[in-house]
Amino acid sequence: MTGPAARFRKLWDEIASVGRDAGSGGYLRYALTPPELRLREWFREQADRRGMPVHSDGNGNLFAWWGDPATGPNSHDPNSHDPAGTGAVLTGSHFDSVPQGGAYDGPLGIVSAFLAVDELRNAGAEPVRPVVVAAFVEEEGARFGVPCLGSRLLTGDIDADRAAGLRDAAGVSFADALGGRPAGPDPALLGRFAAFVELHVEQGLALVDAGVPVAVGSAIWPHGRWRFTLRGAGNHAGTTRMADRRDPMLTYAFTVLAANKEARLRGAHATVGRVVVEPNATNAIPSLVTGWLDARAAEPDTLHGLVEAVHAKAAERARRDGVELTVTQESATPLVAFDGGLADRLAGLLAAPMLPTGAGHDAGVLAAHLPTAMLFVRNPTGVSHSPAESATDDDCAAGVAALARVLEELACH
Ligand code: GLV
Ligand code: MN
Ligand code: MN
Repeated sequence: MTGPAARFRKLWDEIASVGRDAGSGGYLRYALTPPELRLREWFREQADRRGMPVHSDGNGNLFAWWGDPATGPNSHDPNSHDPAGTGAVLTGSHFDSVPQGGAYDGPLGIVSAFLAVDELRNAGAEPVRPVVVAAFVEEEGARFGVPCLGSRLLTGDIDADRAAGLRDAAGVSFADALGGRPAGPDPALLGRFAAFVELHVEQGLALVDAGVPVAVGSAIWPHGRWRFTLRGAGNHAGTTRMADRRDPMLTYAFTVLAANKEARLRGAHATVGRVVVEPNATNAIPSLVTGWLDARAAEPDTLHGLVEAVHAKAAERARRDGVELTVTQESATPLVAFDGGLADRLAGLLAAPMLPTGAGHDAGVLAAHLPTAMLFVRNPTGVSHSPAESATDDDCAAGVAALARVLEELACH
C-alpha cells in the first residue's frame, strides 16, 4: 500500500465519514456546521503535520502556507508571507456540500493539494514562491444562498454587510455562524498570489468520452440564481370553488415547465431544485410558493434571454392566477474565460484536453483578479451534486500528480 493511489485512499479515508448520511451515502456538509467545522479542524491538523502555518482572512477562508521566502516554511507569522513579492501559488477548493451532495465536489481539491505538496517534498522540490493550500467557505451557497461566498468576500465581489446579513433556513446569519462580521476584501492578501489553480472532480462525462483522467478548464458558463416569490390566497381545499382560487402553486408549476422549455429552446440549462410552500398542508391552497431558478448558458445574451422569457411567462401566468409575483436575483456569475496563456501552458505540460464547464467554482470568482486555472478529474458516473458522484483512486492519484507537476512548474523555478 505505498503507491500514489494507496496514498490518496489513506488520506481520503480520514474524511470520508464526516457528514455522510448513513442511509443515502450522500453528504451534508453545510458551511460552518459541525461536519464542515470538523473538516476545517482536519485542514489545520494536515497543515500542522506538514509545518504549514494556517492563516484566516477573517471571511471564513483558510490558507496553509508552504515556503516563505523571508522566514522559511515554519514561520507562524501570517503577516510575514512573501514580503519579497514573488507571488505565491494558490491551490485548494472547498469543504461544504449541497444537501445530499457527493464526496468529491470540493474536498478532492483540498486533499489533492496536500498530497501534491507531499509529492513535491518527496521529490526534493523547493518552492521559490510559496505554495498555499486554501479551503474556501460556503462555495455551494447551500446554507446562505450565495455561491462562492468566501471567495466573493475576499475579492470584494460581495459587500461584507450584505454577506453578514445572509440567513440560513433556521434564521442564523452568516455573521453569527462565522462568529463575527466578515472582514471583507483583502487586496493585500490577494496581491500576494501570483496564480490560483483549483483541482475539481469533473461534473459531466467529457473525460469518460475522451478516455483520459485529467483536463484543464477553459471557461465557466455565466450563471445565476433567481428567487420567484408567488403570493396567492390560502384557503380551504374542500370548500373553495376552483374559479375562486388564487393558487400560487399553479403559477409555480407553469413557471417550472416554462423554464425547462425555454432552456431547451436555447441549448441552455434551467433548474428549479428548491421550493418552499406555505403553509405546506395537503388540504390547504398555498398562500405562498417560493421557487429558486438556477439558470446557465454558454453566452451571457442567451442567459439573459432565457431569464427574461421565464420571467415574462411567469408574470403572464401570475396575472391569470391572481397571484403576485416578485423576482429577485440572488447571485450572478459572469462568463469566465480562464487565463488563456496559463491554460495553454498547463494543457501542454500535462498533455491534457481543455474543457469548459457549466458548474460554478471559486476559481471563477478569483479569475477576475489573478491568473487562474482549473484541473478536472474524470468522474465515471458523470453525476455530481448527488451521492452518485464518483472518481477512482487511480484517477485521483493522476489528479494529484498533475497538480504536483503544475505547482512544480509555477512555484519551483
Ligand atoms: C456549484 O457547484 C454550482 O455550480 O452551483
Ligand atoms: Mn458543487
Ligand atoms: Mn465544487
